Amino acid sequence: MSLSLYIPRESSPDEPRVAGSVDSVKKLKSLGFDVVVEAGAGARARMPDQEFEKAGARIGSAADAGSADVILKVRRPTAEEIAGYRSGAIVIAIMDPYGNEEAIAGMAQAGLTAFAMELMPRITRAQSMDVLSSQANLAGYQAVIDASHEYDRALPMMMTAAGTVPAAKVFVMGAGVAGLQAIATARRLGAMVSATDVRPAAKEQVASLGAKFIAVEDDEFKAAETAGGYAKEMSKEYQVKQAALVAEHIAKQDIVITTALIPGRPAPRLVSRAMLDAMKPGSVVVDLAVERGGNVEGAEAGQVVELGGVKVVGHLNVPGRIAASASLLYAKNLVTFLETMVSKETKALALNMDDELVKATALTHGGAVVHPAFGGANGGDK
Ligand code: NAI
Repeated sequence: MSLSLYIPRESSPDEPRVAGSVDSVKKLKSLGFDVVVEAGAGARARMPDQEFEKAGARIGSAADAGSADVILKVRRPTAEEIAGYRSGAIVIAIMDPYGNEEAIAGMAQAGLTAFAMELMPRITRAQSMDVLSSQANLAGYQAVIDASHEYDRALPMMMTAAGTVPAAKVFVMGAGVAGLQAIATARRLGAMVSATDVRPAAKEQVASLGAKFIAVEDDEFKAAETAGGYAKEMSKEYQVKQAALVAEHIAKQDIVITTALIPGRPAPRLVSRAMLDAMKPGSVVVDLAVERGGNVEGAEAGQVVELGGVKVVGHLNVPGRIAASASLLYAKNLVTFLETMVSKETKALALNMDDELVKATALTHGGAVVHPAFGGANGGDK
């Protein structure tokens, strides 16, 4: 008997992405799944029902969730959605688990085996399953596109018979996955780009993209990267030095894009109101960290606000603003992960709870919360 897999239409109006693509459906079929896609699931991500059908999926309705062995979603299912799933089903999504312990307990009570894609370890084997990278990459690109949309000048230098338009100056704060893509995109558009980060490894990466690296490079900076490749929260003294350097630099910029995050902490505050006030009127600041507390003072989640003549952009769900591309990559992340749980010989589910990827991402299993970060005792890494 073949396994059944269900891809719903996301119920949140704020979520245009879909957890499937034409390619992912083909791959899922080859793994032995009967794939059902809810009618209209891909409508907001340029994936019409007919395309899914051509790839071998059946177009179904919410009632099909009840017979699915595996459910692939973008966002954590709501209580109402969970009520429609059968006990024992596997649900894989971006679960946003921190601070949502009650909802996780709800999935355990419903007997679901729930996986949080964002907890995937950042190891070579899991690179193609790394949803933080796939989505941050597109968010970094989109941040520059959004900035260019709000900016009332051209980004590249243009020499015309009627005069020369100067290149825009773009400053990217935080040179991780999103920041590096923002640098590359701004460079492709012809801007003059500089960037900062607190991790020394970022220096070379920024330079290799043709941008100028700007940072307080003291002893603390030299030790700022954790073994996992992430930033540490910097000392008060460092923050003061960094703010002074940034204040001076920012006043000369046309566009600032902030992407700075510290795992498990609120986003560091990097741009103050005084810094915004020092910028030229018409400048644009995009805060990609707005959902995690924001890098920019005065940035508002879901809004574009004007502060002292500077437009501060705080769009929510930035990968969702480029939903077609984001869905394509996300669907690939999901299928690559799911593939590790399917036996090639028997085409049956062969879930190994001791596998390091499973351990790191499994939130609930067998009626209980299993992830240690959320009260479980499965002995995972997080
Ligand atoms: P992130 O989203 O946690 O943070 C974004 C950036 O903000 C980071 O570069 C961080 O250093 C920077 N930041 C934090 N505090 C700051 C401050 N006060 N001032 C300026 N910048 C600040 O990081 P992301 O993008 O998830 O990447 C983190 C690291 O993981 C990178 O080194 C990246 O190359 C690496 N990585 C490794 C992967 C793998 O091995 N499979 C996959 C993806 C990323």
